[in-house]
Amino acid sequence: MDDEDVPFITTPDRVTVAMLELAGVGPTDRVLDLGSGDGRIVITAARRFGARGLGVEIVPDLVARSREHAQRAGVAGRTEFRVQDLFDTDLSGASVITMYLLPEVNLKLRPRLLALAPGTRIVSHDWDLGDWQPDRTLTLEVPEKAIGREKLSRLHRWTVPARLAGLWCGAQGTALRVVQQFQQVSATLAQGGEQQGFSGRVDGVRLQLLGAGAAAWAATAGADHLHIDAASAGLPLQVGQRLRPAVDGRCPAATADAAG
Ligand SMILES: C[S@@+](CC[C@H](N)C(=O)[O-])C[C@H]1O[C@@H](n2cnc3c(N)ncnc32)[C@H](O)[C@@H]1O
Repeated sequence: MDDEDVPFITTPDRVTVAMLELAGVGPTDRVLDLGSGDGRIVITAARRFGARGLGVEIVPDLVARSREHAQRAGVAGRTEFRVQDLFDTDLSGASVITMYLLPEVNLKLRPRLLALAPGTRIVSHDWDLGDWQPDRTLTLEVPEKAIGREKLSRLHRWTVPARLAGLWCGAQGTALRVVQQFQQVSATLAQGGEQQGFSGRVDGVRLQLLGAGAAAWAATAGADHLHIDAASAGLPLQVGQRLRPAVDGRCPAATADAAG
């Protein structure tokens, strides 16, 4: 008896295609299916979407079957199947993660999913990730579905958000305090005793915020900075400026803006 945390139930083919479309899979993607069963998600990602793929599966017979299917589908060179516990799997090489697991397994994986590179897409068949709201949910009628009375499949998609919470420092004593809950962001921009509040969301590395009146700004998160892409007139932010994380929890009164 293998130690599976979820029983083997296949995602119907039409739903597999819808999952990969929802993730926006293309030839540059590396798809990782956690608990890959008979390999269908990874094989479809390679055959129909031109991606590379890895399936990890705890039941050895299913891994053997997946390799045979991949061979027959002509995608053995672009797919790999490993007998491996998904909880011991390094998730970091994937640009897309697919899952058809169970709610408690999803929740156990969630901290590791949230720590992935910003922009990594995650698609889950049927089960969500608790209070981390999906960016999109699709409901499909699936009369051929093997389980459930409803004969519906719900597909959820998330994009891993950049981690932005904390204090960021700009030129001339500008300080930005960011509070983040998954994709939802609120921010206070302060300069020279004046403060303005904003709220918005982060989509991968792209941050968009709106404040009172028509005040708005947008930024892209880099590894160690926030690059200002757009800012309304009158805000203490300039396009091209980079905000840096505060050191020791404080912004210097006038930080040199390293624009390069
Ligand atoms: C519901 S099936 C989904 C199969 C496939 N991903 C699909 O959508 O058609 C879940 C799969 O996860 C595998 N599994 C369960 N626990 C696992 C674990 N800890 N590590 C790896 N695979 C696991 C099961 O053996 C099963 O094949």
